[in-house]
Amino acid sequence: MSGNPTFTIKVQKAETSKIGSVDFENLPFGNVFTDHMLYCDYKNGEWGTPVIEPYAPMLMDPSSRVFHYGQAIFEGMKAYKDEKDDIWLFRPDQNFERFNKSAVRLAMPEVPEEVFIEGLRQLINIDREWVKKGKGNSLYLRPFMIATGHGVIASPSAQYRFMIIMSPAKSYYQGEVKVLIAEHFSRAANGGIGAAKAAGNYSSQFYPTKLANEQGYQQVIWTDDATHTKLEEAGTMNVFFRINDTLCTAPTSERILDGVTRKSLIDIAKRDGITVEERPVLVAELIEGMKNGSLKEIFGAGTAAVISPIEGFSYQDVYYELPKQENPVALELKEKLTSIQNKLAEDTFGWTEKI
Ligand code: COI
Repeated sequence: MSGNPTFTIKVQKAETSKIGSVDFENLPFGNVFTDHMLYCDYKNGEWGTPVIEPYAPMLMDPSSRVFHYGQAIFEGMKAYKDEKDDIWLFRPDQNFERFNKSAVRLAMPEVPEEVFIEGLRQLINIDREWVKKGKGNSLYLRPFMIATGHGVIASPSAQYRFMIIMSPAKSYYQGEVKVLIAEHFSRAANGGIGAAKAAGNYSSQFYPTKLANEQGYQQVIWTDDATHTKLEEAGTMNVFFRINDTLCTAPTSERILDGVTRKSLIDIAKRDGITVEERPVLVAELIEGMKNGSLKEIFGAGTAAVISPIEGFSYQDVYYELPKQENPVALELKEKLTSIQNKLAEDTFGWTEKI
């Protein structure tokens, strides 16, 4: 509920729903959107009234700053429906906080909590039929903000639009994931925007990822820009390495996204007695670990993909196939996390919030 009694969202509902035409069993990730969207405009130094209206294309001035300077940020979140038809958000406070950190880094205005959180709640409630029950089903929520101000001067816009769109989701990566360890390209640099969920952090990955795809790898594991010796992120995810029975992952920094899935997995692993080390992990450790058998698993972790096990990696033109595990920690952690998210296991951490 909103803490501000004068806070309102203007709602205009769609006359008909598209839901009947959607094949929920065959959903490519992020391609189908629900009946409604939310937007809220910022101008003259203040946020206006949020509006929920039918999902539709929108008109924009071609000189809008977002088109020229990429002033754009986003979040990825999910809503889950339990067996009683209640709908739950997973740690929405974390996404809200990170969104506003990204906003500050991109010189954009912070979004009020009620616009973000109450906006999500009301939008999800209106499209609640789109949230399907059962493990593996969720509604992917995409809050984002773009610079809508007129003019191609290379300076922050004076106008912005905050929006939320929603897409029913199953899994993100299908099938095997083989990765290429970056030896030249970088995702982020010290002093840059790597820790922000900025659109540019993703578009800058497309070209190196395309080159990796051409070589038969689905994703790139990013290394530090200065030395390319430390492992940082995997594609659109944080990345974990299981060395013997220790789970290692790079510490968050101004180059690395403070992932909500990443921190939740660390908490679950620690609760269940798994040793977790947040420390720089070296490429050399992986090569050594392949030679002496200590490297057991690598997996990516993020909201969209949840956990994506990696089959093998290539470095300096040598392909290393990871050993098959009987009881992979990746799957154990995925099961525990998704059970909390889908309300199939007790949420002892207090992470889930009913809408
Ligand atoms: C997410 O996991 O929500 C992400 O941000 C990945 C996205 C690029 C699909």
